[in-house]
Amino acid sequence: MIRDDGERIEPPVRGERALRVGNRLFQALDAAIHRGVPVELNPLAQTGAIANTTLITAIVSGIVLLLWYRTSVHLAYDSVVAMGQQRFGAGLVRSLHRYSSDAALLFVLIHAVKLFFERRFGGARWLAWVTGLALLALLWLDGWLGYWLVWDQRGQLVALGSGHLLDTLPIFADPLSRSFLVDDRLNSLLFFVVFFLHMLLPLAMGIALWLHITRLSRPWFLTRRVMTAWVLVSLTVVSAAFPADAAGPAKMAVRPEAFSIDWWYLAPVWLTDRLGGGALWAIVLAAGALLLPIPWYLARGRARVAEVVTARCNACEKCYHDCPYDAIQMVKRTDDKPFPAMASVDPGKCIGCGICAGSCDSAGIGLTWFDSIRQRHRIDELVDQGLGATEPVFLALVCSESAGAHLEVDAETARSAELPGYAVVRVPCAGWIHPLSVERALRRGARGVLIVASGPGSCMYREGNRWTAERMSGKREPSLRADKVDASRVRVVELFRTQRGRLVAEAKDFAAQVARAGARPPSLPARLLTGLGLSALFGLVTWAGTAAVYRTPDDPAPKLVISFKHPGKAGENCREPSAEELAKLPPHMRQKQICERRRASVRLRVTVDGEQISSRAYEPRGIWGDGNSIAIERFSLPAGPHAVKVELGDTMNPDELNHSTQRTITLKERHNTVLLFDKMTDFVWFE
Ligand code: HEM
Ligand code: SF4
Ligand code: SF4
Repeated sequence: MIRDDGERIEPPVRGERALRVGNRLFQALDAAIHRGVPVELNPLAQTGAIANTTLITAIVSGIVLLLWYRTSVHLAYDSVVAMGQQRFGAGLVRSLHRYSSDAALLFVLIHAVKLFFERRFGGARWLAWVTGLALLALLWLDGWLGYWLVWDQRGQLVALGSGHLLDTLPIFADPLSRSFLVDDRLNSLLFFVVFFLHMLLPLAMGIALWLHITRLSRPWFLTRRVMTAWVLVSLTVVSAAFPADAAGPAKMAVRPEAFSIDWWYLAPVWLTDRLGGGALWAIVLAAGALLLPIPWYLARGRARVAEVVTARCNACEKCYHDCPYDAIQMVKRTDDKPFPAMASVDPGKCIGCGICAGSCDSAGIGLTWFDSIRQRHRIDELVDQGLGATEPVFLALVCSESAGAHLEVDAETARSAELPGYAVVRVPCAGWIHPLSVERALRRGARGVLIVASGPGSCMYREGNRWTAERMSGKREPSLRADKVDASRVRVVELFRTQRGRLVAEAKDFAAQVARAGARPPSLPARLLTGLGLSALFGLVTWAGTAAVYRTPDDPAPKLVISFKHPGKAGENCREPSAEELAKLPPHMRQKQICERRRASVRLRVTVDGEQISSRAYEPRGIWGDGNSIAIERFSLPAGPHAVKVELGDTMNPDELNHSTQRTITLKERHNTVLLFDKMTDFVWFE
């Protein structure tokens, strides 16, 4: 008796049990949605396609917004507020831009988490995984920069957070944070750069997206017509019902207390407001180091790839057209058979689904560990064994990711207590089943063949369910030959892993009346109701992420902010050499003084109400220590009037403070009073 080879189909994955728990949750949700709508309208079955549709909506609405938006740091906010006043004109386009971007991120996150739980990251899928993460990062960055462009209090937080992060790296001679100290000194050029980045990042995403799906044949890239209309109408309704707002205008001197933010994109401000630049970079690097190598450290083995038996290949190209991973090429023949070409598998792209075995009439391609011919013999044996019993047997060909995954099946007899009357054969994917295997079983005496595929839209290998349904219904080659067998004795059911009860019921139902047609699709009112429910749910989730209030961690105490970027005077610093230093030198090189040419560090002393609160020296920057000294100091002080004296020294004499200013200032809660110094203007106060 030939034993069951279908026990372990996918290569093992670390943490598989935990991943399967997550997968079950998704499958349960998928199954619930599928009760109301067909697969083309199930959002969970096409998360990547919805991400693309919403992304394109965001890009198009963004381009239209250019009609009203003013690309200047001084005009941007007013132009955005003016848009809001035309609720059903520019305001609607802006809201659509906001919510479509939010929905894109929401669906990308669902897409990534769902595929992760489905363990669809190892082997040849590593490229999709890595480029997917790059896409996620680019999408988020584009949204983050988009909020900068509104130049409201949220934009201010985004700018400060970005400055905080980038200033930790030694890339800017003048720290970015210094651009955001006072309104009068805002960096207009920087604002333009942010604007252009916001425009150009979608181009980079286009390239990443091309790489993302390059290993897939016929990717489900965009939603179909009805779903697209549904997505657009839902987004428009959310936009009309909850118009996108703007927070108060960005004012560099004011530190806002609380306002609503779009948590989809701006959640990181919670971190940038609380952590230092080093900690932020550590989080970014740790997240990258954890997520990027998942295809390698979680996947514990590569899939066993398909192989071609050249002598049996007659160049029909069916496998070449059916492979969902573009892993088969038709190449020049290496034997003397009279065919123009032969199939060849690219092991780097093949993920071992076995769908090609279901395409090939001559068993010329397939999985050596799940060989089509050996499995046909096994099925023969099982059918024969059933014929010896009182009742002829039904055959259940069960995909390992379907409701049949957990059936306890005797490896010898293929019987399972849950499906009495059936011989159960597990297959890698429903797409592996060649119609000839089904015909052969029926002609040999099986009463019926029940093909149990994974839930609608959830095929682990993308197209297995579709090909099987089309092949068994005669719509795709190789197809079940209705003139050879009674097609009503074959039923294909698509059941999620969670639908074990349904599997038992289906098996009973099929056994009771083999000729009955498949399950009826949901009625129109049921579809409409489910569709409306789903739109409301996703619309609400999208909107809710933008409505929650964010509280800044700032203590309300007023702050005195002092900043300069100033070169200390250059000069020679001479000292007498020590006896040790002299001893190391040959006598003719010994000098009375050792002199180094360097810049003086800049000293700053701050006195408030007669009390010195700070006295520090700032070393010159640059590799050679010959650059500017830079300071951004923030002092929390009680509200009310204060006599402030600030002294600054830039000469070679470390005790000399050759610039100074004095003023009585009145400090207000959550306000910054800023004092800037540079060599052109000396001290300038901004109150
Ligand atoms: C802008 C962001 C993204 C878009 C628009 C997008 C879109 C798509 C599309 C259209 C497909 C083809 C679906 C199919 O036909 O079966 C796909 C596949 C895939 N995506 Fe994404 N994706 C994005 C981000 C991500 C992320 C963040 C991840 C995970 C980190 C990811 C992982 C994958 C994987 C592994 C596949 C291949 C699935 C398979 O081979 O079975 N994607 N994506
Ligand atoms: S389906 Fe079979 S015969 Fe046809 S090209 Fe592929 S391997 Fe060759
Ligand atoms: S097993 Fe066959 S169909 Fe599946 S990826 Fe490999 S070559 Fe393509």
